Amino acid sequence: MNYVRLGNSGLKITELTFGLALTIGTEITDVSQAQALIDKAWELGVRSFDVANSYGNGKAEYLLGQCLNKYPREEYVLLTKGSLPVGSTPYHRGLSRKHIMWAFNESLKRLGKEYVDVYFAHRYDPEVPMEEIVRTFNDLVRSNRALYWGVSEWPYEALDECVAVCDRLGMERPVTEQFIYSFAVQKHVKSGYKDTCTKYGMGTMGFSPLCQGFLTGKYRNDIPSGSRIAKSDDIDYQKTKNFYPQNKERIDGFLNICDKYNADYVAVALQWCLRNGVYPVFGSSKVTQLEQNVKALDMEVPDAIWAELSAIE
Ligand SMILES: NC(=O)c1ccc[n+]([C@@H]2O[C@H](COP(=O)([O-])OP(=O)(O)OC[C@H]3O[C@@H](n4cnc5c(N)ncnc54)[C@H](OP(=O)(O)O)[C@@H]3O)[C@@H](O)[C@H]2O)c1
Repeated sequence: MNYVRLGNSGLKITELTFGLALTIGTEITDVSQAQALIDKAWELGVRSFDVANSYGNGKAEYLLGQCLNKYPREEYVLLTKGSLPVGSTPYHRGLSRKHIMWAFNESLKRLGKEYVDVYFAHRYDPEVPMEEIVRTFNDLVRSNRALYWGVSEWPYEALDECVAVCDRLGMERPVTEQFIYSFAVQKHVKSGYKDTCTKYGMGTMGFSPLCQGFLTGKYRNDIPSGSRIAKSDDIDYQKTKNFYPQNKERIDGFLNICDKYNADYVAVALQWCLRNGVYPVFGSSKVTQLEQNVKALDMEVPDAIWAELSAIE
């Protein structure tokens, strides 16, 4: 597994970051099952782990912290996030200093760690002045409890303002933007995330690189039992099935081109992100998937595939 630099910052992450949304802390609440996944990720060389306070209502952070206890803290990168609602009052959401300071402290307690490597403003909050946001995240960085800060799916206008405010105040800019990114979902084109990151030298991290399973080919003929769609009521998450009607042409086109060259779907999906300079934040609900996904980085993909995929683009 290669280590890559996150934008212009000095922080290196592994090419693949393992994320926990909807798996550990949601469908997987047993610590030994969670440990098996984290141990497999570690054995395969993954050293970057992504979580958020909202995943599994905090259980994901708690379990991840427990599972990482056996590993030296300086040898992995821990990413977590705050701002999505974690309760019903105005104090349980958003980017106000009041919420973020509380949310961050709660995250550290659940993780059981002295610091996180990157703390993300999980979504933009137009109801908080940019100067308050910048000062709050910089205070966390100055306290050495977050080594860097990042943003996730911020409108590019907000990012422009953020960078201008950071520079005016002589404060640390966010080092990365984490946005949805896969061959199937092209939101980054309209949103301008990627171009804005390039402009500011920010690292680009792409979540859901397998389009929540669609780019593995698992939904091609039916909805397999045990899949995220089949589990949607149990895990209280209904969005996965919408990806197909919204991105049908790109998903079908992708699978057909892979079939034509007899190429591994996962290898093409993950390597496509890397070729485009975006570091995948992927998920796996089983050890076997995790193994397949990490090994996919080393698989040969015929060059002709990239040209055919660009033709769909
Ligand atoms: N910043 C944000 O706002 C944000 C938002 C969403 C996600 N994220 C991060 O991104 C991470 C990944 O998101 P994601 O889970 O949507 O990404 P994904 O990698 O596109 O999808 C992962 C899911 O696809 C299925 N899968 C994975 N590998 C497979 C394989 N080899 N064969 C068959 N099925 C396979 C599994 O679901 P089943 O086995 O259950 O079908 C797995 O949980 C999250 O954990 C989180 O850390 C961030």
